[in-house]
Amino acid sequence: MFEALSAQDPEVYDAIQKEVRRQAEGLELIASENFVSPAVLEALGSPLTNKYAEGLPGKRYYGGCQFVDVAENLAIARAKALFGCDAVNVQPHSGAQANMAVFFSVLEPGESFVAMSLSEGGHLTHGSPVNFSGRLYRPHHYGVHHETHRIDYDQVHRLLRDVRPKLLIAGASAYPRIIDFQKLAGMAQEVGAKFMTDIAHIAGLVAAGEHPSPVPYADFVTTTTHKTLRGPRGGMVMMKEAEAKVVNSRVFPGMQGGPLMHVIAAKAVAFGEALRPEWKVYQQQIVKNAKAMAEGFLSKGYKLISGGTDNHLVLLDMRSKGMTGKAAEEALARAEITVNKNMIPGDPESPFVTSGVRVGTPALTARGMKEGEMRTIVGLMDRAIQGDPKVKDEVHEFCKSFPLYEAWTR
Ligand SMILES: Cc1ncc(COP(=O)(O)O)c(C=O)c1O
Repeated sequence: MFEALSAQDPEVYDAIQKEVRRQAEGLELIASENFVSPAVLEALGSPLTNKYAEGLPGKRYYGGCQFVDVAENLAIARAKALFGCDAVNVQPHSGAQANMAVFFSVLEPGESFVAMSLSEGGHLTHGSPVNFSGRLYRPHHYGVHHETHRIDYDQVHRLLRDVRPKLLIAGASAYPRIIDFQKLAGMAQEVGAKFMTDIAHIAGLVAAGEHPSPVPYADFVTTTTHKTLRGPRGGMVMMKEAEAKVVNSRVFPGMQGGPLMHVIAAKAVAFGEALRPEWKVYQQQIVKNAKAMAEGFLSKGYKLISGGTDNHLVLLDMRSKGMTGKAAEEALARAEITVNKNMIPGDPESPFVTSGVRVGTPALTARGMKEGEMRTIVGLMDRAIQGDPKVKDEVHEFCKSFPLYEAWTR
């Protein structure tokens, strides 16, 4: 692997080698990360990156698209089979751009929408003042009950009735519980708002039937193709057939130029993997592992936001250990355990410090780890948080039993 690169550009080669080793030798608990298969990596590294293919399969602005059309048609057909959606655009370069395509389809600048606030679990693209969604449009945010930490559906209902927006958004980056998409769709319908669900975090679970699907209820379902879906970095928009013409035109020419055909081929490969029977087993294990982790932390006296989890992530309230999220993230990093600090509902700290830590199990589960390993990892994390310097060597030793990308470091 990497013969040409190592000979031609030792600096980039060295950075890649060190990053692959970092991924293999440490514990990856960032809830939005995962390890793609060698087949996905091969498609990503293929000469399809060379091809300009503005437009859609069969309707391109460039010649020579007959083979990339095959790849994109496979991605489309497999996404439809996986999620049961009417129509899909697999071209957005990222989750943020999938969301942008829907904003451009539904709203004019200055118009209102309702979404979950970033500080209570939502995403940057759901109306943060530093993001296009907050700069071009008028967000009205709902949050969670501060005792149960569950979405405050009454607040959503009130906001929708008061604001009467054109768009309601559901979906989150740091919410450990099931989202009642059907209920939210009913509320959107009542006020005549379109309903967009952003399932970036839970797409893999939805595809496996481990989280209720919004596809039957939502006008638009956006997602990243990485995270639990375990594909290449990228985005896609699923939608009702009636919305497809406008959304397609907002992706290109509205927002992007040429689609990344090597990434689209890799999306097709990942969706093919998700259509196999093993996928359900993998996604079930992700949830079992998150529950095992939640129980482990509870037994060691940690407080969890909402008291536990229904999905792939757990949100720790580090105040229960007298620590900030930032301090915990740094202590874990010293042991080569990677997590991210995270705001928690009603957080008194700034986003740069935070009171929470978000941990997720998709990447650990992709390495073949199960509940027993989760209990071991919680023990290692607890000791690392307390500053035990021996944990790093134990992490390296532990990871040797779950090899990763060995061919890439030879
Ligand atoms: C809910 C949600 N939507 C959208 C995105 C954006 O995805 P990307 O980083 O690919 O732009 C994320 C990424 O973290 C997310 O969690």
